[in-house]
Amino acid sequence: MTHSENEVYPPSPEFVAQAHIDGAKYEEMYAASVNDPEAFWGEQGKTLDWIKPYTKVKNTTFEYPNVSIKWFEDGVLNVAANCIDRHLDTRGDQTAIIWEPDDPNAPARHITYRELHEQVSKLGNVLKGLGIAKGDRVVLYMPMIPEAAFAMLACARIGAIHSVVFGGFSPDALASRIEDCSAKLVITADEAPRGGRNTPLKANADKAMEICGDVPMLVVSRTGGGPGMKEGRDHSYEALMAEASADCPPEPMGAEDPLFILYTSGSTGKPKGVLHTSGGYLLYVSLTHKYVFDYHDGDIFWCTADVGWVTGHSYIVYGPLANGATTLMFEGVPTYPDAGRFWAVCEKHKVNQFYTAPTAIRALMGQGPQFVDPYDLSSLKVLGTVGEPINPEAWHWYNDHVGKGRCPIVDTWWQTETGGHLLTPLPGAIPTKPGSATKPFFGVQPVVLDAQSGEEITTTEAEGVLCMKDSWPGQMRTVFGDHERFVKTYFSDYKGYYFSGDGCRRDADGYYWITGRVDDVINVSGHRMGTAEVESALVAHPKVSEAAVVGYPHPVKGQGIYCYVTLMAGEEYTDELREELRQWVRKEIGPIATPDVIQWAPGLPKTRSGKIMRRILRKIAENDFGNLGDTSTLADPSVVDDLIANRANT
Ligand code: WT7
Repeated sequence: MTHSENEVYPPSPEFVAQAHIDGAKYEEMYAASVNDPEAFWGEQGKTLDWIKPYTKVKNTTFEYPNVSIKWFEDGVLNVAANCIDRHLDTRGDQTAIIWEPDDPNAPARHITYRELHEQVSKLGNVLKGLGIAKGDRVVLYMPMIPEAAFAMLACARIGAIHSVVFGGFSPDALASRIEDCSAKLVITADEAPRGGRNTPLKANADKAMEICGDVPMLVVSRTGGGPGMKEGRDHSYEALMAEASADCPPEPMGAEDPLFILYTSGSTGKPKGVLHTSGGYLLYVSLTHKYVFDYHDGDIFWCTADVGWVTGHSYIVYGPLANGATTLMFEGVPTYPDAGRFWAVCEKHKVNQFYTAPTAIRALMGQGPQFVDPYDLSSLKVLGTVGEPINPEAWHWYNDHVGKGRCPIVDTWWQTETGGHLLTPLPGAIPTKPGSATKPFFGVQPVVLDAQSGEEITTTEAEGVLCMKDSWPGQMRTVFGDHERFVKTYFSDYKGYYFSGDGCRRDADGYYWITGRVDDVINVSGHRMGTAEVESALVAHPKVSEAAVVGYPHPVKGQGIYCYVTLMAGEEYTDELREELRQWVRKEIGPIATPDVIQWAPGLPKTRSGKIMRRILRKIAENDFGNLGDTSTLADPSVVDDLIANRANT
């Protein structure tokens, strides 16, 4: 089955009748938002609680090289107070966080807004007691437990900047992030249970500190396992919390004061520290959470992402809590104890909005309908996807078996850099087409540029690179410690625009279809991976002289990691070494970067000036030999035939 732009699924009249936004309202609000952003966002900004109201709304320019982005710049607020304190009078006893543990037989936790307030306030004081002050960086390397959310919010409460590092990252990756942001504290846990196995977080953090030097650590006891504490460096979370006061007034923060840093991969160099600030970010994630998922008071919202990714920041923690929602946090994996776990959790907690990634849907689809059909999924109202384009097979399976044809599917396109959804249907307003992220959210002005000329394509039907013409409040503000890199990465290729790095097509109805990255970034199970990062991990091995990494189509992951490796002269090309290199990359970066394929490449296709022709390597990995293009500029065209002859089976 291929994508068909003629296959259109409008929401049911019953859904539209109860939705916040219908088609006409979307058109009206969208027009208002782009015709007068100042007025639109000035009004929306009032949905937050301000300690000192803003008088300025938008002060942004994409003009190269003077890029500068400020929203609500003279306003003062506290993000944690917006996510907690302001709800206490109206919903203090409502559950803020439902926590579902990895082990289905262990009890779930229900944390009310009042309890959240107490825990976050105490932790704020614990952080202060450890010497953390406004502007300091705190790295979080945590399991999916409520303490991860407490830690994010406690940082926000006292004005510290958190940087969450995904628990699947290696000690090396953790160390480089601790170093890059000069973290003053690391918050971790002894171990992270996932799928019945424990990831040794504390042991990994110990190893990281052998690389980057000791940093004080606050350690949550999740399993009671893991290594011992290092005297003078490590502190027990439980011990310090037991003595902490619950009186921790929220720190007044400028709207443009940093809230968090989140590292993400790019096409070159080491991961960038994407910096988000307080006011605009919180407004943008709360508004998108409310409208994109059509969230109503009392609904149970579940985003299956890990808090180590931006999806977890925006749609497990900040967006839902700013809206006074009940947000579900799941510690486990979709396939443990079996491929029915997601649906068992939906049934158990009566989930109303469910948000996951196409790769998870494909994996579960592959296990068969017997894992989903027995569950009562009648509470579901809206389904969402994020991370990569969803293929029509997976879309239909999701729609039929999970949504029972009743639930609009919102395919949300966005990025770590964008803070929240940019292209997405509003479920009561925009008929969906399987595989399309449909239309822009309020205030978002997408344009399609011709990749070569950089000219805006103004016809409705268009194909090219996806850029944004103007700023939205959730946009990243800079790369931490390297504003020049920010300007160069996003604003220098196409002057005057924000360049997303994605290609796209706009159809005759003005719907956007993402065609994938146009740079050297690949998307593995919805996780962004710089091919350069995998290459540098490979060449760090003493037997490797050169490596080139590309993506190739993978039935479950979307893209798999295909590596071409040249060994040092005299080294033997063996299967054992191939496996050793896979494990090596896994150790250097983390399990998500484990190569799927390593093809030995005694020679790589290079131009006469020595540049590796990745275009050709991509084609070979994609099994598309008829289409190699011009190979005459290669220094030695015969290497291409060798690579084709020895292509790995995928
Ligand atoms: C890249 C951003 C934003 C949270 C998840 C990943 C791809 C994301 C979609 C979608 C097609 C998508 C893009 C984008 N992507 N959502 N709905 N349809 N592609 O965040 O790691 O910052 O990756 O993910 O290529 O540029 P990220």
